Amino acid sequence: MATKAKKKVNVKTATKAATKAKPWGGRFTEATSELVEEYTASIPYDWRLYPYDVAGSMAHAMMLAKTGIITKSESSRIIRGLEGILKEIASGSFSFSIELEDIHMNIESRLIEKIGPVGGKLHTARSRNDQVALDIRMYLRDEIAAIHDLLGSLQKTLVALANKHQEVVLPGYTHLQRAQPVLLGHHLLAYYEMLERDQDRLEDCFRRVNVMPLGAGALAGTVLPIDRKFVARQLGFGSVSENSMDAVSDRDFAIEFVSACALIMMHLSRLSEELVIWSSSEFGFITLSDAFTTGSSIMPQKKNPDVAELTRGKTGRVYGSLVSLLTLMKGLPLAYNRDMQEDKEPLFDTADTVSLALSVVTEMLKGVTVHKKAMQKAAEDGFITATDLADYLVRKNVPFRRAHEVVGRAVLRATELGCGLGDMTLAEYRKLSPQIDNDVYDAISVKSSVNRRTSYGGTAPVNLKKRLQTLKKMR
Ligand code: ARG
Repeated sequence: MATKAKKKVNVKTATKAATKAKPWGGRFTEATSELVEEYTASIPYDWRLYPYDVAGSMAHAMMLAKTGIITKSESSRIIRGLEGILKEIASGSFSFSIELEDIHMNIESRLIEKIGPVGGKLHTARSRNDQVALDIRMYLRDEIAAIHDLLGSLQKTLVALANKHQEVVLPGYTHLQRAQPVLLGHHLLAYYEMLERDQDRLEDCFRRVNVMPLGAGALAGTVLPIDRKFVARQLGFGSVSENSMDAVSDRDFAIEFVSACALIMMHLSRLSEELVIWSSSEFGFITLSDAFTTGSSIMPQKKNPDVAELTRGKTGRVYGSLVSLLTLMKGLPLAYNRDMQEDKEPLFDTADTVSLALSVVTEMLKGVTVHKKAMQKAAEDGFITATDLADYLVRKNVPFRRAHEVVGRAVLRATELGCGLGDMTLAEYRKLSPQIDNDVYDAISVKSSVNRRTSYGGTAPVNLKKRLQTLKKMR
C-alpha cells in the first residue's frame, strides 16, 4: 500500500516573475487570469494523489516502450525522472505551483524540467481525463483496504468486550422504554453484525473500483497501438474498462464508496449515541475513560463524552459528501466535464473522517468501564418480564391474545399494589388466571427470561457463547 499522503503542502500562487508555461498553452495568446488560476486549480488538495499519479505514469511509460511507441531508453529516463520526483514530493522539497492546475501537470512539468524534452513523451496516448480517473481509483483501492481493516479492529474490540462481560444483563429497549432483558454481549454483537455488512459493502464496491480506465484518452480512445491490459497487470487491476466514454465520465464507484462510508458513520453514530446515554448519570451503565472524555471550562464536575458526540456530529459531513457527489454528477452530459474535479474534496474528506472516527471509537471502547450492578438493577425493573409471563401462560395452553390481556391486568394490579410482577402474591395471580402456579416466579425472573431465549439469534447465554466461539475461530 502506498504511504498515505495527508500532510499540508505549500502551493505557490501565481507570480508575474515566475509564470510557468501551460502544457496546453499552444493555442492561447493571452495569459490566464490569476483569478481563474485560483478558481480552477485543484493542486491545493489533489497533490495527495501523487503516489498514484507517479505509479500510473511509470506503468504507462513501460507500456509505451513495450509497444514501441517510445524507445526503451526514453522510457527508462522517464521512469528514473519520476522516481526522483516521488522522492522530492515525499521529502517536501517539491514546489507545487497553482499555475499548473493539478497534480498531473505539476508532475509532468517538473519531469520535463528534470530530464528535458523527452519528458514530453510521457503524455503520449493519454489525457488527464483518463489519468485522473486512474488516480482516484488507485487512491480508493488503498482507502477501502484501510477502512476494511479498521472495521475489523472495531469488531475485534466488540468481541473482546462481549467476551469479558458475558454474564452481564441490561434492559433491552424499544422506543427507549425498557422492553426485555438482554445480555450486554448480545447487544454489543448487534454492532458486530452492522460492521460485517459494512465490510461486505466495501468488498463489493472494490470490485467496481478495481477497473482500469487508462487508455480511454480524452474520451474516444487512441490511434496509437497501446496495450491496456499490460498497464492493468502492472497496476494490479482486475479488469479494463470496456467503453472509453464511460471510463472518463464514470464516478459511480466514488459515490458507492461514499455511500458505504455514510452507512459506516450511521452505525458509529448509533453506537456513540448509546455510549452518550449509557454514560449519563441517569443511566450510569458505563464510565468512559479520562483519555476519551473532556472537561467543561465552567462546570468542574463535568466529564463529557465529546468523542462520541463528535462522531455523531461528523456523520453529517459524510452524508453531505454523498449528496454533493450525487448532485455533482446528475446533470453531466458525456463525457468528462470540469465539474468532476469537485469530486475530490468530498472523497478525501469522507475517507479521512471515516478512518479517524473508526480509530477513535475503537480506542474509546477499549477504555469503557462497565457498571454491571447498575445494568442488572435496571434490568430488574418490575415489569420487564411481562412478555415472559404471557409466554408462561401460552405454555399452559392459554391463547397468546388472552394471555396478553391477563398480563395487562396483572401489570395494572401490581401498579395499584405498588409492587413488581415478581412480588405479587399467588393469590392475586389466581384471581387473574387459574392457570398460574407457584412456578410462575421462576418463569418471570430476569435470569430465566434471558436463559430461555434460546431461539436462533436470541439473547440466551448459550447462544452468545456459541457465537463468540465462532467469531473467535473466524479471526
Ligand atoms: N484536475 C482535473 C480533475 O481533477 C483533471 C482533469 C482535467 N481535464 C481537463 N480536461 N481539464 O478532474
